Amino acid sequence: MKFPNKNIIGRFGRMMLLLLCFSFLMAGCGPFQDVVPEDVHSEDIPDEEENLVVVGFSQLGSESVWRTANSESIQEALTRENGFFLEFSNARQKQENQIKAIRGFISQRVDYIIFSPVTESGWDTVLQEAKDAGIPVILVDRKASLEDDSLYTAWVGSDMISEGEKAGIWLEEYLQKEGREEEEINIVVLQGTVGSSAQLERTTGFQNIARKHSNWHILKQEPADFTTAKGKEVMEMFLKNYTDIDVVISQNDDMTFGALQAMDEEGITTGVDGDIILISFDAVREALELVSQGIINVDIECNPEQGEYIMEIIRKLESGESVDKENIVEEKVFTQENVDEYLDTRTY
Ligand code: AHR
Repeated sequence: MKFPNKNIIGRFGRMMLLLLCFSFLMAGCGPFQDVVPEDVHSEDIPDEEENLVVVGFSQLGSESVWRTANSESIQEALTRENGFFLEFSNARQKQENQIKAIRGFISQRVDYIIFSPVTESGWDTVLQEAKDAGIPVILVDRKASLEDDSLYTAWVGSDMISEGEKAGIWLEEYLQKEGREEEEINIVVLQGTVGSSAQLERTTGFQNIARKHSNWHILKQEPADFTTAKGKEVMEMFLKNYTDIDVVISQNDDMTFGALQAMDEEGITTGVDGDIILISFDAVREALELVSQGIINVDIECNPEQGEYIMEIIRKLESGESVDKENIVEEKVFTQENVDEYLDTRTY
């Protein structure tokens, strides 16, 4: 299907297209039935007078507590009351689903596309299609590696290289405090989804620090997909193959929960008084409670609350203002020393 230029068809035309696409979906015969938006109902379709900004959001999945919080933050910001009509599509960690969803949004002539790329590569063609259709794209959370940076308008997310470096710097200081800085230190790493910017950048960041310490040995880095089930499976494998692990680095809290189950089953303890030093990323509430109890040594925050930033960017673009290309969210490092003051206000 080819549609005329966005400016000619107008917002009302696009609402009608949305309605048409929605009818196709309901009939199960449309082009997007395998990327059905989760929260679009016929009575929700906006009418012309509302003059809502239509946004298509391709979320990469719902693999973690962090991801759910990220989806909620965006859904809570881009509401009807705030002047938006949000179409949400969950790609279930599959790039092909994201590409289909984005093509669906282009066909519907949405005003903006936001999406969190499951992996860094493979987006040039579909983003070129969005650009050709005149639809601005805002990347959220993860990055895309593109030949042409003009294929997206802005990115909102975390500095994940810095997150990885923070983990390394914390370990450096901790070992020094414990008088273990000369010891041989064996490290295993549970990595996130292979090829995602979260996995690539946290790995690079930690290695930037690790390479300064010839006594730090990374025994194995293994992907566990950012999920609890995989985290447990991979940790079991580490425990079977290595008897001398000093440090476990888990690139998100969900994998940490799985790793803790695996260690617990073997009678291995972690944390401030435990057998193994445990470093995690994200800092969701359940993990911060474990930091408070001394079971996780340190949790490097990855801030999922990105909805307000996106709303601001779209508002600026709507009023013709320019926006920063890179928008980095603020993040902290939590240990037993500082965590309690933040626990009460953690909502996710
Ligand atoms: O891209 C952010 C990462 O993705 C979070 O650390 C993780 O929990 C999520 O699945």
